[in-house]
Amino acid sequence: DSAERKNEAKNYNEVMDALPKVKGLRGNDYYLYQGFWYSSFFLEGLMSVHEHFNPQSTDIFVASSPKTGTTWLKALTFAILTRSRLSGSTTSSLLTKMPHDCVPFLEYHLARNPSNRDLAIPLLSTHVPYSCLPKSIISSSCKIIYICRDAKDAFVSLWCFVSAHQMSKNVEPLPLEEAFEMFCNGISILGPYWDHVLGYWRASLEFPEKILFLTYEEIKKDTAAHVKKLAEFMGCSFTLEEEEEGEVQEIISMCSFEKLSNLEVNKNGKHRLDTSIAIQNSLYFRKGEIGDWANHLTPEMGARLDDIMERKLKGSGLKL
Ligand code: A3P
Repeated sequence: DSAERKNEAKNYNEVMDALPKVKGLRGNDYYLYQGFWYSSFFLEGLMSVHEHFNPQSTDIFVASSPKTGTTWLKALTFAILTRSRLSGSTTSSLLTKMPHDCVPFLEYHLARNPSNRDLAIPLLSTHVPYSCLPKSIISSSCKIIYICRDAKDAFVSLWCFVSAHQMSKNVEPLPLEEAFEMFCNGISILGPYWDHVLGYWRASLEFPEKILFLTYEEIKKDTAAHVKKLAEFMGCSFTLEEEEEGEVQEIISMCSFEKLSNLEVNKNGKHRLDTSIAIQNSLYFRKGEIGDWANHLTPEMGARLDDIMERKLKGSGLKL
């Protein structure tokens, strides 16, 4: 098995060597694969998933571009789906494990070991763009819940995350202006951002029963309505009794920024400890606000990115 893995890794390296590449936000290489920029770690993961992963027909994927609210959506969907076991150990694992360790990533946790999941909880996640997803996911009856966010906030969140990670390793982060220029040119993790969003948007129009398209902003604005919508989409609507007992509010509170960011595991724990890209859990909880971009970008930078997004999304029916 180990020889097979080594052989696979060699094949993946050969594929990568033939791809266009640029220097990414961390100074590492990004590879252009099927129209999107990948780090080698996630590209290897994706290639492995294409070969080895088969979903259960009941699987539900939380999909997103990085820094758009993945952690929050994972917490909400996990809490909703496992709520009937509230008194058991499953739901409480959100209190002792960070959301990314409750809902495994396809191209990370499952890439190296497809059985690295709890089959009783059909909830997985991915940052892979829609057009790059394995056919086994597209053609099965799996459901997908996609989250995206204002591009300016997504960029600022990404830059702050990468910079904080770099500084924790005593590495000088890329200046904001340079990172912004790259982002506007489509170069970011799993970018171009607009193409990531558009892929899922179009698919959600074509297959509305399979793909639920949400924004961070709308979930913030009316979290209760979205928690109910998520439950309905996942096939586990709240009963009247549950609603009367305040179950929706309980889930909202448990998954709130304040609650999650103050848990010991999220303050002091680490994610992906066994890898070269281990990271402090606390970095996944920064501010959790809408519009923080204005504290980092000039109005001109903001207008430029708005203009790019407007042009790219034109005619799609989507406004972000
Ligand atoms: P900011 O950097 O703007 O604060 P992702 O989970 O996709 O990596 O996205 C991270 C963003 O979601 C960060 O945004 C983070 O603070 C915010 N976030 C994390 N947990 C949240 C929660 N429970 N509620 C709202 N926002 C949350």
